[in-house]
Amino acid sequence: MVKICCIGAGYVGGPTMAVIALKCPKIEVVVVDISVSRITAWNSEQLPIYEPGLDDVVKECRGRNLFFSTDVEKHVAEADIVFVSVNTPTKTTGLGAGKAADLTYWESAARMIADVSKSDKIVVEKSTVPVKTAEAIEKILTHNSKGINYQILSNPEFLAEGTAIQDLFHPDRVLIGGRETPAGLKAVQALKDVYAQWVPDERILTTNLWSAELSKLAANAFLAQRISSVNAMSALCEATGADVTQVAYAVGKDSRIGQKFLNASVGFGGSCFQKDILNLVYICECNGLPEVAEYWKQVIKVNDYQKNRFVNRVVASMFNTVSNKKIAVLGFAFKKDTGDTRETPAIDVCKGLLGDKARLSIYDPQVTEDQIQRDLTMNKFDWDHPIHLQPTSPTTVKQVSVVWDAYEATKDAHAVCILTEWDEFKKLDYKRIFDNMQKPAFVFDGRNIVNADELRQIGFIVYSIGKPLDSWLKDMPAVA
Ligand code: NAD
Ligand code: UDX
Repeated sequence: MVKICCIGAGYVGGPTMAVIALKCPKIEVVVVDISVSRITAWNSEQLPIYEPGLDDVVKECRGRNLFFSTDVEKHVAEADIVFVSVNTPTKTTGLGAGKAADLTYWESAARMIADVSKSDKIVVEKSTVPVKTAEAIEKILTHNSKGINYQILSNPEFLAEGTAIQDLFHPDRVLIGGRETPAGLKAVQALKDVYAQWVPDERILTTNLWSAELSKLAANAFLAQRISSVNAMSALCEATGADVTQVAYAVGKDSRIGQKFLNASVGFGGSCFQKDILNLVYICECNGLPEVAEYWKQVIKVNDYQKNRFVNRVVASMFNTVSNKKIAVLGFAFKKDTGDTRETPAIDVCKGLLGDKARLSIYDPQVTEDQIQRDLTMNKFDWDHPIHLQPTSPTTVKQVSVVWDAYEATKDAHAVCILTEWDEFKKLDYKRIFDNMQKPAFVFDGRNIVNADELRQIGFIVYSIGKPLDSWLKDMPAVA
C-alpha cells in the first residue's frame, strides 16, 4: 500500500487529502500537524474548517484510509510521498518584510523530513511558494540525506475556499512539476498515478519545477487582476452613470475575456491573493524587474483603494460622520460559504468605520465573536503567524458587538453594510429591517446582492458598488 503523509492540516491539507483518500481507497493518507487543537478537531464531529461537502468526505474515509495525527515524525518516516502544505505567509520582519514569503514553516518541515527519513521519498510542494523554492528544499534535504534519495515535486493547489470539494473533484487542471531526469520523471509519474484515479489524463499537466511554482503565483495574480480591473471600472461607473454589472457583462461576452471573476466588490480578500502578489512583486524586484513589480503592485493598490472608497462613501453619505452611530455589518468572512476571515475586506472596512468612531454590530453565519475581535485587534500580516504569536490577547474592541442574527444586528442601526455575499442576505425581510432602523436608513451593498430598486421602494437610501448613484449620494461630497 502506498503511504501518503501530508504536513499541515489546514484549508488545503485537510480537504485535499480527504479527497485523495476518498478517490484512492488503496492509499493510506495521514494528515499531520503540530497544532494539537486542529488535529483534535479533524478527529471530532466539528471539523476545524467550514467547507460545503467536506463533512461527508471525511466521514466516509476517516478511520478507513484517512487519519489525522500529531505524531508528525512517525508518519513522515513511514510515508512514500510527503506533501508539504504548511502556511507560507508574508514576512512581518526582516529582509523583505511586508512582501516576501516567510518560509520558516516550510524550512522547518523540510529539516524534520531530513531528520526522520529512513527510506527514499517523494516530497511534494503543495504550499504556494516562491519560484525556485524547490532548489532550496532540495539543498536542505540532500545536505542531510544520509544516503536517502529525495525527489522534489511542485504540485500547487488551485482550489478556492467555499467550493474546495467540487474544485478537488473536478479540477480544471492538476499541475505537477519535476526534475527532467529519469528519477524526476519517475516521481512525476508516481504522483500522476494518484490523481489519475479520478482526474482525466488531459487535465494533468506536467512541467518543469520552476514553471509549476511560477504558474501558481501567476494564476492568482491574473485572477486578482481581473477583480481589481473591474473594481477600478466600478469607480468610473459611479462617476459617469454607467452600471458596472452591465459593463462587465458586455466586456465578458467577448469570448477572449469571459464572464467569470468580473464581479465588482468591496475588494478581494482571502489568504492567497494579496500574499501571492506581494510575493510575486518581491521576486520581480529581486530579479531586477522593477517595471514588472510595479505592474502587479497596482493590483493590490486598487484593492486597497476600493476598500477605502467604500468606507469614505459610507461616511460621506451619512453627513460626513459616523461617530457613535450604530452600523450593522452583514458578513465578515472573505467570501460566502467559508468561515475564513484571513485578509477579509471586512477587517479594513470595519477598522475604517471604527476610526471614525462608529459603533458596529456584526453578524456572520460562520464567524465567531472571538475571531472577529482577534481580527480587529491584530496587526497586518500577523494573522497567519500563529506559531509566533503570543496567546490570544484578551483585548476586545468595545465599539464592536457580534450578534447571531441579521435582524438583531440591524435593530436601531443607521446603516447596513453588506460585506459578504451570503445567500441568506438576499432573502432578508428588508421591510422589517427598515422599520426597526433609524432614519434616514442606508444600505451600502459591498457585494451587489440586494435588489436596490426594491429597497428604495421601501425607503432606504442604497449604495451599490459601481451602479448609478441615488440623488442623495450624488449630493454628498465626492469620495476619493
Ligand atoms: P493553514 O494555515 O490553514 O494550514 C497550515 C497548517 O500547517 C497549520 O495548521 C499549521 O499548524 C501547520 N504547520 C505549520 N508548520 C508546520 C510544521 N512544521 N509541521 C506540521 N504542521 C505545520 O494554511 P492553508 O490555507 O491550508 O495554506 C497552506 C498553503 O497552501 C499555503 O502556502 C497557501 O498559500 C496555499 N494555498 C492555500 C489555498 C487556500 O484556499 N487556503 C489555496 C491554494 C493554495
Ligand atoms: C483563490 C483562488 O481562486 C484559488 O484558485 C487559489 O487556489 C486560492 O486563492 P480563494 O481565495 O479561496 O481562492 O477564493 P476566490 O473565489 O478566488 O475569491 C477571492 C476573493 O475575491 C474573495 O474575497 C471574493 O469575494 C473576491 N472576488 C472573487 C470578487 O470580489 N469578485 C469576483 O468576481 C470573484
